[in-house]
Amino acid sequence: MTTTESSTLFAQTWSLYDLITEHNYMFHQEIYQDVGRLLGLRQDHGRYRLLDLGCGNARYLASCLKQFPPASYQGIDLSEAALAEASHYLAACKTTVALTQGDLLDAIEAADKTWDVIFTGFAVHHLMPEEKARFFGAAARCLSENGWLIMVDVVREEQQSRENYLRDYLRSMRENWIEIPAGQLEEACTHVHAHDYPETLTTLQAMASAAGLTASRMISHYGPHYVLLFARSGMTAAIVSPGL
Ligand SMILES: C[S@@+](CC[C@H](N)C(=O)[O-])C[C@H]1O[C@@H](n2cnc3c(N)ncnc32)[C@H](O)[C@@H]1O
Repeated sequence: MTTTESSTLFAQTWSLYDLITEHNYMFHQEIYQDVGRLLGLRQDHGRYRLLDLGCGNARYLASCLKQFPPASYQGIDLSEAALAEASHYLAACKTTVALTQGDLLDAIEAADKTWDVIFTGFAVHHLMPEEKARFFGAAARCLSENGWLIMVDVVREEQQSRENYLRDYLRSMRENWIEIPAGQLEEACTHVHAHDYPETLTTLQAMASAAGLTASRMISHYGPHYVLLFARSGMTAAIVSPGL
């Protein structure tokens, strides 16, 4: 599989993903509320630099950034169509925006600067295990001293095989995503079946730890849709407190 193939759904029919998220089938409302709260805990509003890997159209993150604007936002995505929409959604954020078409792993591995927040939403599960390990290595290298890696993604249960994960996820899509027209639902199912390679939480934490991101926290999850936070050393007290 090529990364170009893995983004085909988004390149050709971005409107389908929008339809899915508008019906909140992947819990974007709750998840991005949590991401916004997380950003709100940082002490560097207006000053932090944010990298968004697999940004898509940045529609949901843009709402968080309006509240807690970074000094600069850099988005990377394979899909030209998504990036065109992202510039629209990010226009209202009081920040410097740079959008680049490209592969997220290539981009982070080639980067020669650091960011205070590296964010990635529903993109890393497209990578193979060895690529995910490289992703964590590169992200750790590119985080500033107090930097955070915020990862939103689908996660397999411990002991759950990919085959069983896909069986359960596809069943849930067919049962619950009732507002998606049948043809488009099958298109989405085909995409998930071909391109989703979620890891378990333990595996993600082990990969992060091996890369030096030894502090990790599961912020929330809605079924298999997780919000995870990784950092180089101890988290601030605010993050371990309940309420997020
Ligand atoms: C499910 S969408 C997520 C969009 C947004 N981040 C969100 O949370 O809703 C996944 C995005 O990742 C992008 N993507 C997938 N693999 C990628 C890769 N290897 N490099 C860059 N972008 C990639 C797709 O083009 C798509 O825009």
